[in-house]
Amino acid sequence: MTTAIVGLGNIGSRLAADLVDGGEPVLLASRDIKQAQELAGRLGERATAVSVDDAVERADVLILAVWFDTIKELVTQYGDRLSGTIVVDPSNPIAPDGKGGFTKTIPASESSGQVIAGLLPPGARPVKAFGTLMADSLSTAANRTPHRAVGFYAADDTEAGDVVADLIRAAGFDPLKVGGIDQSLRIEVFGDLHEGSLETLPSAAEAKNLL
Ligand SMILES: NC(=O)c1ccc[n+]([C@@H]2O[C@H](COP(=O)([O-])OP(=O)(O)OC[C@H]3O[C@@H](n4cnc5c(N)ncnc54)[C@H](OP(=O)(O)O)[C@@H]3O)[C@@H](O)[C@H]2O)c1
Repeated sequence: MTTAIVGLGNIGSRLAADLVDGGEPVLLASRDIKQAQELAGRLGERATAVSVDDAVERADVLILAVWFDTIKELVTQYGDRLSGTIVVDPSNPIAPDGKGGFTKTIPASESSGQVIAGLLPPGARPVKAFGTLMADSLSTAANRTPHRAVGFYAADDTEAGDVVADLIRAAGFDPLKVGGIDQSLRIEVFGDLHEGSLETLPSAAEAKNLL
């Protein structure tokens, strides 16, 4: 199973480090291959720098760690080449509100998870994951003791969800499925299970009571 991360900013770079720490090989892709090469060099032999094209070609699991609008662009650009691929969407559809905060860029009742899933070609396997925590928490809460922090995900395709659950585990969190893609709203920003809405980051056992 080949995992690739496209976009190596706050989320992509931290997730790459978590996965490599957990023994998971990853392909790393950025627009500027030098950025991917530099990160791969720091993370060691489990990380390999590739072009975005190669990541799309080789990945069984493609984590699109880029902003919502960029995910839409990439999904449109790569179209049918994503058929059969597990496409992981960590996005939160937000933009600065001009007052120091953030505002949602799509209607409050809609989730980016559902929008992205709707844009994917037939056969693509969307999973919503890795967007519930703030980027810093992806580093600081990984492998928390004594109780690991929860890593929520949403998927319609059970097998695809199980594959991503294994990656969540490798990244140092305990996976917990919230439901199908239609439950993405709960784990995106402003959702009740997003880190910004929770007082503390629950363990998976604690989080089960919140479902
Ligand atoms: N930051 C958080 O705390 C947080 C928490 C949860 C979820 N998320 C979500 O995670 C996603 C990534 O957020 P982030 O904070 O990591 O953003 P970021 O730090 O701005 O990183 C985004 C990365 O996407 C790359 N990129 C842009 N267009 C690209 C393209 N066409 N092809 C390949 N790479 C491209 C950028 O590379 P360049 O340097 O080439 O522009 C940049 O490295 C967003 O959807 C966000 O909503 C973020």
